[in-house]
Amino acid sequence: MSILVTGGAGYIGSHVALELLSKNEEIVIIDNMQKGHKSAILGGKFYKGDIRDREFMDEVFSRNDISAVIHFAANSLVGESVTVPLKYYDNNVYGTQCLLEKMVEYGVKHIVFSSTAATYGEPERIPIQETDRTLPTNPYGDTKLAIERMLRWCDEAYGIKSVCLRYFNAAGAHKSGMIGEDHRPETHLVPIVMEAALGKREYVQIFGDDYDTPDGTCIRDYIHVSDLAKAHILALESLRAGNGSKVYNLGNGEGFSVKEVIECARKVTGREIKSVISPRRAGDPAVLVASSDRIRKELGWSPEEDDLETILSSAWEWHRKHPDGYPD
Ligand code: UFG
Repeated sequence: MSILVTGGAGYIGSHVALELLSKNEEIVIIDNMQKGHKSAILGGKFYKGDIRDREFMDEVFSRNDISAVIHFAANSLVGESVTVPLKYYDNNVYGTQCLLEKMVEYGVKHIVFSSTAATYGEPERIPIQETDRTLPTNPYGDTKLAIERMLRWCDEAYGIKSVCLRYFNAAGAHKSGMIGEDHRPETHLVPIVMEAALGKREYVQIFGDDYDTPDGTCIRDYIHVSDLAKAHILALESLRAGNGSKVYNLGNGEGFSVKEVIECARKVTGREIKSVISPRRAGDPAVLVASSDRIRKELGWSPEEDDLETILSSAWEWHRKHPDGYPD
């Protein structure tokens, strides 16, 4: 029996794949390699292809005895999603529809889904709980929320049980130093700060310092990618134990401002990191911090690398060793 990991050559997918391998799980990775990296795949069977390609998916499902799916394959740039929303509905929503059709056809009943804090939009209160209003402010978040809804109806109709994990800000890299964060183009704060520390960027732009926060810059809940990965294993175990469909937030419950992240990175790297105050980025909520009480209580999840310095140190280790990112 194998676990199918879609988007397993991406940042979070590759960390979860490695975690599964360390638990001696058999895995099958699929990735269309539009954003994924070959060197981020460290084991398991790999098929290059797209979840929207029915023939390809038939080949994967018929050749492997798949017992569960962990689904990452998606486009995930908030800004881009505003410019080309249909690309997001096509790859994310329709792509997941195609995947679910194959799960129905082949009788696969368990799926762990990579969701996002962007499903909430502008939060009603902090920390955000799973029961809070979901009103996405960009197409990316809207596609992820649509998928969560699709999963609920697939449970009703076909008995497919799902765990939706709403990630806050994933950061850091695996302790082996073999995999890390490499998006092209890079838009995420932590890798951008690391690139500035390496001298590959002249400065970090701080998108707005006039928010209603203590230092005026946006506050986010940064969570180590390995802690995130461990939550996927717990989610899988929960489904295997026969538990029902669930939605969980995944964050550390502590927020750091953009300025605090840059300051901490200066300390961790010992490098000068220049910053420049720039205009606000459209669609950025001032504060996003998770309540992860539900997953802590119900699945016994507890983050191990939850302080910002540890998270940034692991990112620095990877960026220092891979100044140009992955070779492929
Ligand atoms: N930021 C900067 N300068 C940069 C990059 C980012 O100031 O060069 C700021 C952003 O404005 C934001 C914070 O740093 O306030 C974090 O930004 P990221 O782009 O790293 O992350 P986001 O919070 O925008 O996005 C993350 C995930 C998304 C997810 C979202 C949920 O990357 O996939 O959280 O809100 F949708």
